[in-house]
Amino acid sequence: MNLAELNAIANKMVAKGRGILAADESTGTIAKRFDKIGVENTEPNRRDYRELLFRCGEGMKCISGVILYDETIRQKAADGTPLVQLIEAAGAVPGIKVDKGAQKMALDPDQTVTEGLDGLRDRLVEYYKLGARFAKWRATYNPTKPSWNSINANAHALARYAALCQENGIVPIVEPEVLMDYDNDIDACAGITEWVLKEVFQELYYAQVKLEGIVLKPNMIVPGMKSPKQASVEEVADRTVEVLKRCVPSAVPGIAFLSGGQSDEDATAHLSAMNARHTLPWHLTFSYGRALQAAPQKTWSGKKENVAAAQKAFAHRAKMNSLAATGAWNKGLEKAA
Ligand code: 13P
Repeated sequence: MNLAELNAIANKMVAKGRGILAADESTGTIAKRFDKIGVENTEPNRRDYRELLFRCGEGMKCISGVILYDETIRQKAADGTPLVQLIEAAGAVPGIKVDKGAQKMALDPDQTVTEGLDGLRDRLVEYYKLGARFAKWRATYNPTKPSWNSINANAHALARYAALCQENGIVPIVEPEVLMDYDNDIDACAGITEWVLKEVFQELYYAQVKLEGIVLKPNMIVPGMKSPKQASVEEVADRTVEVLKRCVPSAVPGIAFLSGGQSDEDATAHLSAMNARHTLPWHLTFSYGRALQAAPQKTWSGKKENVAAAQKAFAHRAKMNSLAATGAWNKGLEKAA
């Protein structure tokens, strides 16, 4: 393992004012997104949509890395240029989602365990050759029915994945996601996220993963979307930083949040408040899927004549989140767009 190289990649991924574009929707997940905008889920449509994002110069200025799906890392743009090359030309690091999805835990149907470790070493070797310099593995947790068994199993899998990545010159994004879809309050989210993160860092230690060569991708501390008691931007920012400071060693170069179904503006406002209100030992940035893509997807709607407008919508969200990554975003900037 070359830790200096891993650390340099991780630092590039969380460089001040830039963040990660999560464009790694599986074919099934992108089908759901395309359904909403009336676009057929074909290979050329998926290619055209992703090409539109990666060729958006203004937007990509704010993007440090792009997470790809297996199909996308092998795909070529309409003119034959590999999509990976477009990402590199924009100055961003190509990455790859390597987990095989969350499956119901045996005898614990309220929780899931993420699968995909079998054969992972060989897949990482191939992905490195295809240009990937970081990877992603996502574990999910239902905060209303926590179980030690699922927290432990997912932490163990995340650590085994992270060790395999580092052995193969790839920076692991370690993504434990306490889901936001339930009716739990913010205290439950804080308590379970703290438990999850403590277990994850313990297992990373046992697996000899070097923290200087990872990026953490956690949820923010929020009440469930169905909770009657929602929280202010400041409360979310302060509770999130509190939990992270309790759990994440300062050797970790950076933390890049998932958006998890928050509105575009909430995801931006929360990140900006954390950076503006706190002195932090790590860089805090974004690794958003929906919160970066919902607007351009809707604008594009599968039509060639909408490509420029969709790129403008993507550039706007990327710019807003880039400002949030330094704490410099405010609501007025949204209105000016
Ligand atoms: P969202 O920002 O849409 O939650 O997606 C990020 C991601 O990569 C989830 O694994």
